[in-house]
Amino acid sequence: MRHLCSLLDLNRDELAHLVRRGIELKADRGRPGHSALLAGRILGLVFEKPSMRTRVSFEAAIGHCGGSAVFMTQRELGLGERESVKDFARVASQYLDVLAARTFSHERILELAMYSSCPVINALSDREHPCQILADLCTIAQEFGTLAGKRIVFVGDGNNVALSLAHAAVLSDIEFVLSAPEGFGFRDEVLKECFDVNPQAKIILEPNPQKAVTGAHVVYTDVWASMGQESEADERRKYFLAYQVDARLMKQARSDARFMHCLPAHRGDEVTDEVIDSPASLIVEQAGYRLHAQKALILWLLGIDKS
Ligand code: CP
Ligand code: NVA
Repeated sequence: MRHLCSLLDLNRDELAHLVRRGIELKADRGRPGHSALLAGRILGLVFEKPSMRTRVSFEAAIGHCGGSAVFMTQRELGLGERESVKDFARVASQYLDVLAARTFSHERILELAMYSSCPVINALSDREHPCQILADLCTIAQEFGTLAGKRIVFVGDGNNVALSLAHAAVLSDIEFVLSAPEGFGFRDEVLKECFDVNPQAKIILEPNPQKAVTGAHVVYTDVWASMGQESEADERRKYFLAYQVDARLMKQARSDARFMHCLPAHRGDEVTDEVIDSPASLIVEQAGYRLHAQKALILWLLGIDKS
């Protein structure tokens, strides 16, 4: 049985399969058979943090394909308080076919996977956001025709979204550049893990955002303080002011460069209205692809699709 705690749980071929299948499934909606692809399957959703896109796209994905979802919050479950993560995982996975969890700590995702008898999906942890990046890769592949050789530049905090983008560079031929202020880049051990898996991975650290975005096909950003870091927001803002994605920064990128953001966005902080609302912005497309990429993921994890 397979889980998706991290994109690094996949190999190159598996990632390529999920991207290809995500794009196919977008076109597949409404075709005969689509509404029975996951007939009778139950998806559990455990969320310790707020969500719009992830929750709704997972519920819609399973619903379109004939299955259903059970949504549970930490408030009602009391994981680690009312009962242990281990007991929850062993019992809940008897009722469910697949379990997606959004947690504060990445270790909790790993613990769920360790004790679950059904596949576990990381629906965002403090460390990684693999489902977001599956959708983003579908979006980039559709937009540019291919992923190979595309330069994706993430400007801002070296957070969960940035790390999963780096993992995509480990498993494909994209070039990933992180442009973060000093102290907000990747920890040494996460970079080491990337290069241990693929010593040739094109992962570049360039703290100067103007230099970083030169030649970029995609300029990507995310909030400067992630969920769980809200109390640090004012302090962090000081370090990130020079990392705002504005029209001037976008001009340094390729003339056909696109802007991406996982959302929700703090307009006026990490990105200006002018950029996020510009024709170059792919924010709606990438959020839309959450639906299709997650259908592909569930079908693959359940062995219905083979890679
Ligand atoms: N991008 C994303 O995961 O959005 P939500 O937090 O709304 O799920
Ligand atoms: N980095 C953000 C992503 C939200 C989808 C967070 O973790 O809050």
